[in-house]
Amino acid sequence: GIMEQNEMKKACGYAVIDQCVVSGMKVGMGTGSTAYYAIERLSQRLQSGDLKNVVAVATSFSTQALCQEKGIPVFSLNDSRIDGRLDCAIDGADEVNPANQLIKGGGAAHLLEKIVEYSADDFYVIVDESKLVDVLNRSFPVPLEIIPESRRAVTRNLEKAGFSVELRMAKAKVGPIITDSGNQILDIFTSDGQGMASGGECDPVDMEKFLSTIPGVVESGLFTRPVTRVFIGTPEGIQSRG
Ligand code: A5P
Repeated sequence: GIMEQNEMKKACGYAVIDQCVVSGMKVGMGTGSTAYYAIERLSQRLQSGDLKNVVAVATSFSTQALCQEKGIPVFSLNDSRIDGRLDCAIDGADEVNPANQLIKGGGAAHLLEKIVEYSADDFYVIVDESKLVDVLNRSFPVPLEIIPESRRAVTRNLEKAGFSVELRMAKAKVGPIITDSGNQILDIFTSDGQGMASGGECDPVDMEKFLSTIPGVVESGLFTRPVTRVFIGTPEGIQSRG
């Protein structure tokens, strides 16, 4: 049920702060309902004084606002105190495969998430067990943030390469979702429905590279940089794997 799932998300969000964040760290803070709990925990531990001088870089406008509300100092990745490098980043994911490769971007935040999370020495992923899959992209689309003017050209390119493509619409269905950077989102599936298997024809590492070669694609939601540790919330407690 929903309650149990939120409990699992909360347990992961709290565990990653308690086990991985120490005073003085520069931390990239993720976006979404699981990252929410990591932000909540970091705020508590800064307020209580058992963590000191931790500063955050947010991966979205909504996370930036949440950090500000909760009293977490939040800087731009370009701030001279950060200088484009973080000790660690913490975020949820939409799918995680056995190689700890991810699909992200269900919340349309993957562009800034990738910039921030690929700038961190350590990358911690927090998910409830419903996010674990054998093969990426069988049931969750890979999101592509695109320059709006490129939409039809990118769509043709992808369809020729064997993908099905859908423009992500805003909740009210009156028009496309607009990202924090003013772009649009195309959601793609392999058209055979077989997804992106590690070592297969659509290996996630190859796909991440391929997708970024299409003119107009700003960033894909495939994350294949090494993950330091995944915290997995299960009804029996937290499991983790490196
Ligand atoms: C945001 O664009 C996504 O990448 C999120 O990290 C992802 O959707 C996970 O969110 P939840 O923790 O809310 O499932």
